[in-house]
Amino acid sequence: MIKSFLNYTGGKYRIMNQLIPLFPTQCDTMVDLFGGSGVVTLNYHSADRYIFNDNNKQLVDLIRFIDNNSAIFIEESIDKIIRHYDLSNTMAFGYEFYKTSSSKGLAAINKSGYMRLRTDYNNSSQYSCLRPLYLYALIIFGFNNQIRFNKNGFFNNPVGKRDFNVNMRKKLHDFTYFWKKISPYVISKDFRDIEVTKGDFVYADPPYSIATATYNETDGWSAKDDQDLFHYLDKVDKKGAKFALSNVIEHKGKQNIKLLNWGNNYNINRVTNSFKYSNYHTKRSSSQEVLITNYETSI
Ligand SMILES: C[S@@+](CC[C@H](N)C(=O)[O-])C[C@H]1O[C@@H](n2cnc3c(N)ncnc32)[C@H](O)[C@@H]1O
Repeated sequence: MIKSFLNYTGGKYRIMNQLIPLFPTQCDTMVDLFGGSGVVTLNYHSADRYIFNDNNKQLVDLIRFIDNNSAIFIEESIDKIIRHYDLSNTMAFGYEFYKTSSSKGLAAINKSGYMRLRTDYNNSSQYSCLRPLYLYALIIFGFNNQIRFNKNGFFNNPVGKRDFNVNMRKKLHDFTYFWKKISPYVISKDFRDIEVTKGDFVYADPPYSIATATYNETDGWSAKDDQDLFHYLDKVDKKGAKFALSNVIEHKGKQNIKLLNWGNNYNINRVTNSFKYSNYHTKRSSSQEVLITNYETSI
């Protein structure tokens, strides 16, 4: 499985090896309706064509930038940004040079340069062609490599512990190489506006209404969005296309009853069942992830 260059909250990398065997073995166009980090598009190899969609415009601009430029150009450009903003480069100089260690991290060293970079990014024109590159630099040096915007569209992730290390560079090269091979058509629309036809396969991984993630803290994903998605997928089914919907039917004691009721018209495949101890009273809370499909899976 190929990793994305983005560390995406709710990203499916961790369960890709369970999802792929549940996906159709062939389709005309695979539509990744809520593409996020791109990791699902990237690891599904059974389509003639691919459409990657996400309504986060900044994310989509970054994916397009990666698609239109070579990994070497992007890497060199990030190195220039690193020099310009006086950020650390442990790959070249090691941690000792910065009088820190891997466990202590680089937040204190990079904080001021990172904040200047973040301000410049947030003040830059949205039409600037290098804007996605600056966003990528912010993701590399940001907390947990996350992509996070406030409700006014300003990037607001704080500085992180790491820099453009070997691991991040490898992820960039791998992603760029494999993405260009399948060359998805990249769009930024609301899912309700995406048309599909017979023979297509739609993969839907929306924000989960009973769990909060960084990208839906500000915009929100409501019960109405869930309802619209169910109608949308019913229409996909009537058109003779296939769909698979990822979601959680149970999370930290909450249940999504409407999802369960709707899903009962189709096939509910249980994907993972992870149990965590939620607090010091060792009260157990569960999260039940599912893949709802309108076709019989082969396993
Ligand atoms: C759970 S994440 C997808 C993660 C992705 N499958 C992965 O593995 O990286 C949900 C995504 O849906 C996007 N999104 C939220 N509302 C949307 C909408 N109305 N239409 C299209 N995309 C939307 C968010 O920007 C976010 O990237």
